[in-house]
Amino acid sequence: MRIPYKKCLAMILVSGLLLALLHAWIPRASSGVDITPREGGQLKKLLEGKIGDSIGGYDNIEYHIKDDVACHLPQNSCMCLADEETFRLPFSNLLSQRVWAHKLDLPFLESHPDPEGVKRHRAQEYNSFQKRSYNPADVLIVAEANSPLQYPTQGVEVRPLKTIIIPGLALKETGSNHTVHLTASLGTFDVAATVDGVFVKGEGEKHMMLSSPLLSTLNRQLQFVTYTNTVFHPKTADTVQFATEGHQSFFTIKVGHGTIPKLYNSGYQKEYNITALVTIATKTFLRYDKLKDLIDSIRQYYPTVTIVIADDNEHPQPVTGPHIEHYIMPFGKGWFAGRNLAVSQVTTKYVVWVDDDSFFTADTKLERMVDILEKTTLDLVGGAVREVTGYKATYRHTISVEEGGEEGDCLHIRDGFYHVIEGFPTCVVADAVINFFMGRTDKVHQVGFNPRLSRRGHLEFFIDGLGSLHVGSCSDVIVSHASKIHLPWSKTDSQKAYEKFRYSSSSADKDVHNEVFYFKNRFKCMTSQ
Ligand SMILES: *[C@@H]1O[C@H](CO)[C@@H](O)[C@H](O)[C@H]1NC(C)=O
Ligand SMILES: *[C@@H]1O[C@H](CO)[C@@H](O)[C@H](O)[C@H]1NC(C)=O
Repeated sequence: MRIPYKKCLAMILVSGLLLALLHAWIPRASSGVDITPREGGQLKKLLEGKIGDSIGGYDNIEYHIKDDVACHLPQNSCMCLADEETFRLPFSNLLSQRVWAHKLDLPFLESHPDPEGVKRHRAQEYNSFQKRSYNPADVLIVAEANSPLQYPTQGVEVRPLKTIIIPGLALKETGSNHTVHLTASLGTFDVAATVDGVFVKGEGEKHMMLSSPLLSTLNRQLQFVTYTNTVFHPKTADTVQFATEGHQSFFTIKVGHGTIPKLYNSGYQKEYNITALVTIATKTFLRYDKLKDLIDSIRQYYPTVTIVIADDNEHPQPVTGPHIEHYIMPFGKGWFAGRNLAVSQVTTKYVVWVDDDSFFTADTKLERMVDILEKTTLDLVGGAVREVTGYKATYRHTISVEEGGEEGDCLHIRDGFYHVIEGFPTCVVADAVINFFMGRTDKVHQVGFNPRLSRRGHLEFFIDGLGSLHVGSCSDVIVSHASKIHLPWSKTDSQKAYEKFRYSSSSADKDVHNEVFYFKNRFKCMTSQ
């Protein structure tokens, strides 16, 4: 808390100075300040932008920035700051989770042969991403004060190339000649019925005028105004202007296909039938002994549930048994590629991800996960992993992204969760959870696992899913983990080989991670605990 507040304070002071400079004619006590002009300028610009256009014309009235509120506004100039080093006892890291910061741009650009080229390329790609994801329905429209025009502010939608009646149009005005104009850009207007005494011009065109000496007949006629989308675009919006003499209003009509549902026919059931609802997916590499333990443990509790195994061993061994699908991949394809392959083969409504070095116990109650996914809007729910030592981890994180302008955005990852879920006292909502989770299969497909992350990767999936996945975590659905802590002389050859492969962080591997964050997700830095 302390650090961001200091940063805020500095910005406030800076912006104060700038305001003083810009409004030099207003007498004002300016105190001494430490400055970083870019940010200060931005805070002022930001404040003016927020209040700006909508209530213009009051520039000469002085205002006083309220520090503690203004500094929480998004500023498009984020920074990644680590917690300050304080006096630390041995192991204090384990007690208090210090925030660390990591730059992504410099390490990636320094190792790149053409840093300027890659920056430019990222900017181009981002530009076209923004164009693709732009929707006119998201643009801010302000309704002017005292407009006599009545119109729908939101919720009007038309299917591509189809026709609707525009609901809610009316005029509240007295005067001798009542005239309104409608203008669109992706479609045309018409009337579905005519009213005597109303003059209509421009039917079937992008601009239509309706006029009547009687307000009541005009308003009656406005109830029959139709809009027909004429330009095919599967997901956009038309901004319609509705105007009378001296008054203008704008509203949007969303244009798009409806969402096609993806429903799973799991059969009628009084109780949750895990076999019909759930598939267990895992990826194996050099650990057939562990995989066998996992399968045996699953079979004790769920004898008929399908298990999908992605395997990228150099010398694959057969893994057989009822309800097992074993997919052999090219050698060393990697961690996320394996997850992708396994999940892509799932045909049930839910998929459970479990690491191959875990095993099920009586505490691994998949029914509880199904229950919470059936009864809430969660898309994915994590469980807990119990280590051999008895330590139980849930690995809950919150993720946020702060805007950072041209350099890229800032990624912030923190331990913790948002809130407990009503009716499920052992479950909470977070943004990222542990490597043992159950998700709605179609939502997990949608996010996908970036197959370029071959050795390490976990949070990357949740970062990609931020905003589209609603994630929960329940501490009482537990798998057990075969401990990672082994005495070196007791390791088997395959363990040694696995660790060599998995934990050798080659520089190529690091580059991929930096590139994914810097280029694909367009971050410039991150902080984490
Ligand atoms: C009313 O105004 C419209 C548009 O300004 C005009 O075309 C129309 O002739 C007017 N009607 C009367 C009766 O003045
Ligand atoms: C559960 O679902 C499986 C697969 O659809 C089916 O074979 C089985 O009979 C079902 N069990 C019950 C108790 O309905």
